[in-house]
Amino acid sequence: MLLALVLTAAVAKAVPKTPPPPPPPPAWRAKLEQYATEHLEHPAWGTAHARRDYRLTMELAKASGVEVDEEAVFAASWLHDLGAIEPFAQPGVEHMTRALELIDPILKDAGFPDEKVPLVHTIVSHHMYYSDPKELPPSALYFREADTLDFLGAIGISRIFALTGKHRWAPDINAAEATVRKNLDELPGTLATPQGRLRAADRILEMEAFLKALAAEK
Ligand SMILES: [Fe+2]
Ligand SMILES: [Fe+2]
Repeated sequence: MLLALVLTAAVAKAVPKTPPPPPPPPAWRAKLEQYATEHLEHPAWGTAHARRDYRLTMELAKASGVEVDEEAVFAASWLHDLGAIEPFAQPGVEHMTRALELIDPILKDAGFPDEKVPLVHTIVSHHMYYSDPKELPPSALYFREADTLDFLGAIGISRIFALTGKHRWAPDINAAEATVRKNLDELPGTLATPQGRLRAADRILEMEAFLKALAAEK
């Protein structure tokens, strides 16, 4: 009997315990994504842009060895351009300002943690390349870098040309080309972190090559 007990204990000890499954992600994540998918589709600042901004913010922060609030970045990614998308956009109102007027009930309905809403506001209100990067918390600083980088490179070119005939930045193809050139001239200098500038280098080359080829083929 004793031998059986000893053997049973030994076998139990030898079998590695399966680690418990990770807790399910909080429901607000899926709810925000669903809201964006249902309401915020756009060729240049829709859900694909949101996913890239989120991914790039996290990559830049990690490469910089800086901690950001992943949950606030996730929420801001989905909602930061809401004020630029119909029917939410309002003529004469900056899209960041408009977003701040609208996002609180969306965050609340989704169940997003109340204590993180102020950080989402900071990220949203400073996400554009022309906002002042000084004294921003890392979550907002790296999100601003990611959003700026998404105007550069092949993806930046694609987004501007996707607006052709639909937006004042690109009423026709020549205007889209001019906007791409302006973005190339002005945006890299607004990047505020070494990692952001590093990630811009290849994108600058891509834009230069594209504009050269376009000029030659027109
Ligand atoms: Fe924006
Ligand atoms: Fe954006």
